[in-house]
Amino acid sequence: MKDILHRIKSYCKYLVTAKTKYYLHSPFVFEFYTHVLEGKNDISAIENLRYSLLKSNHNISFVDLGNEGKKYTRKISTITKKSAIASKYGKVLLNAVAHFKPKTILELGTNIGIGTCYLANGNNGAQVFTIEGSKELSQIAQQNANKLEIKNINFEVGNFDAVLLSILKKIEQVDFVFIDGNHKKEATLRYFEEILNFCNECSIVVFDDIYWSEEMTEAWEIIKQHEQVKLTIDIYRMGFVFFQKSKLKKENFQLFF
Ligand SMILES: C[S@@+](CC[C@H](N)C(=O)[O-])C[C@H]1O[C@@H](n2cnc3c(N)ncnc32)[C@H](O)[C@@H]1O
Repeated sequence: MKDILHRIKSYCKYLVTAKTKYYLHSPFVFEFYTHVLEGKNDISAIENLRYSLLKSNHNISFVDLGNEGKKYTRKISTITKKSAIASKYGKVLLNAVAHFKPKTILELGTNIGIGTCYLANGNNGAQVFTIEGSKELSQIAQQNANKLEIKNINFEVGNFDAVLLSILKKIEQVDFVFIDGNHKKEATLRYFEEILNFCNECSIVVFDDIYWSEEMTEAWEIIKQHEQVKLTIDIYRMGFVFFQKSKLKKENFQLFF
């Protein structure tokens, strides 16, 4: 209940303070609005896949590390409805990858791979690394990527706490990160610090669910103030973090989307 009230309050505040593109003076943020939020890349193949998953009565049992390691048996249709990224935000990820052209992409929280497919389809020359705690969900995600004939995804299985560092060492430099699992303040900040060591000036880190709970919003506020962070863009559901020291002023934007 506390989290729901927090989301309602935050959303009302966002509706009052968020800016439309006509109020933007920063060329970088205006470009972001035009190419990432309003980009027109094709998402029909992934949405057709989602449509078929929403009709699937197939059951799977899995351990949800995002929910205290509880074991669940759920229909694929229910998982798709409850956990997969919505098309509006998937398209934002695809547009962002198509616009900024990262070569290495890391996703924390594969689930059934809908967000992963969006990231991978943004630039098929990029290598996407995606981590999921549940082996069963990761297998479904791999089947989904195969259905779309997507070849640039590396599926990793394990608890972020245990495998993130070794995967980052393998990637060496990470250009784009989507953090979408384990929505706890302490864990979110710890993953961010770990990831920062493998970022470069042009890297982008995206956090999902920044208003999910008070603690996620506290984490987001700390990230905005971080000394290495230059510019942030909050679109309510997601927060984008940029580091480009030479090009950008230290500013935080909230954009109406
Ligand atoms: C919201 S879903 C991810 C949705 C997906 N990114 C998308 O865009 O469709 C979060 C996923 O993170 C996984 N997860 C949560 N905490 C984790 C942890 N500590 N280690 C590994 N996976 C975790 C859960 O199993 C769940 O599948």
